[in-house]
Amino acid sequence: MPEDITPEEGPSAETQAAKAAPAHRARADAREKERLDRLARGDYDLFRDSLADFYEGPDRDIFAKVGPFWRFTELNKESGYYLYRRTLLGPSANRVKVRDEDTGEVREMVMMASNNYLGLTTHPRVIEAGIKAYEKYGAGAGSVPLLAGTVDLHAELEQKLARFKGCEDAIVFPAGYSSNVGCVTALAREGDIIVNDILNHASIVDGSRLSGATIKVFPHQDAEALDKLLGRLRRQEGDHGILVIVDGVFSMDGDIAPLPELIPVVRKHGARLMIDEAHATGVIGKNGHGTPEHWGVDGQVDIVAGTLSKGLGGVGGFVASNKEVVNYLRFFARSYMFSTALPPAVSASLNTALDVIEDEPELRARLWKNIDYMREKFLAMGWNLGNAETAIFPLIIGDDYKVKEMGRQLDRMGIYVNPVFYPAVARKLSRIRLSLMATHTQEDLDDTLAAIEKTGKAVGAI
Ligand SMILES: Cc1ncc(COP(=O)(O)O)c(C=O)c1O
Repeated sequence: MPEDITPEEGPSAETQAAKAAPAHRARADAREKERLDRLARGDYDLFRDSLADFYEGPDRDIFAKVGPFWRFTELNKESGYYLYRRTLLGPSANRVKVRDEDTGEVREMVMMASNNYLGLTTHPRVIEAGIKAYEKYGAGAGSVPLLAGTVDLHAELEQKLARFKGCEDAIVFPAGYSSNVGCVTALAREGDIIVNDILNHASIVDGSRLSGATIKVFPHQDAEALDKLLGRLRRQEGDHGILVIVDGVFSMDGDIAPLPELIPVVRKHGARLMIDEAHATGVIGKNGHGTPEHWGVDGQVDIVAGTLSKGLGGVGGFVASNKEVVNYLRFFARSYMFSTALPPAVSASLNTALDVIEDEPELRARLWKNIDYMREKFLAMGWNLGNAETAIFPLIIGDDYKVKEMGRQLDRMGIYVNPVFYPAVARKLSRIRLSLMATHTQEDLDDTLAAIEKTGKAVGAI
């Protein structure tokens, strides 16, 4: 896979495997040999190798790639660069207890990587609603929603979400990932065209691929380029169905889709617009309703999708739209049709979470106070934050080694962040990613800032 492209542009692992040709196999073999040679010489270069190398496994045995990848992860663990699945021994709160898998030691860390933006996972009302529903409804829904899995709490959740998003109706999925995949695959098919912002979330990319539609990509946030692309598609391809999809708030960059520029372009070319409100719901807009409210364009987006796992503090995904679209999705979105409904207790907590967002606007105000404080301090330290405007802070470094090393040092200092590098983002945009919560205290923020300044200087990033 070439460097400096986002994974969205690259072929999927499946496509890679399916196409494994002799030349391709020779490349993979050569790379593996080089890796093992370096390992034997003791100069295995952790900073050059990445997950992307393992997309290209030789296909003699479908397990051929897993051995080399095992060695890759083991080496990363030995070097302290394996910062995945750090096990929490409690809730995803501002301070977390983390178990060190090697030593068994339990450490307290400042959590700067959770999407629990408003702290609703631990809100007393949200917990109480879940416990009561657990006692009344039991642990699971027992069936898929269309057959025997819908309880009154699910119906209530869909109605509340529809109201919250200013749409006629809404449908709830088991996850945000499956709501995007289900929605896109249900609506678009071979002969249609899907146009994605290049930084759209993986679930949108996967749904687009699975749909069989032709996929086009436009440069990030660039309404002018979208206009040109749609114009060209209309001239060359004719009267196809076109679905334009953008994240409302982008998950790696924290910037906001420019809906007032995108909507007229989409309308002009007779296309439809879908937005993914995963990181916007509960966070932006005067009432936390998301990106359309933020821009004052409520009711002008055709499909509003999102997750229930971040600002709402639970799990699940949703799509809100007009009642005909939602009715269609109930029967043609396979990740809804063929997947068991959310546990009723989760629905009960989510119903209360939506009430809390309405009743306690001070939670969002606290989140924004934290965002404003950290933005000012990070900029004063000299960090490149890209175009971040929300609770997601990318400290863009553009050097995988520095990012990994800074992540390791922060972990040792008790600050839980996510180092993000190729292939998750282009190499020149590798970063430390933080996300803020309403529940962060001044001490949490200041401890984080001190550690970020120290480690950023230590690796030469600032
Ligand atoms: C933009 C975006 N869309 C969708 C998802 C998927 O949501 P879920 O985790 O609920 O499956 C995520 C993250 O997880 C996301 O960041």
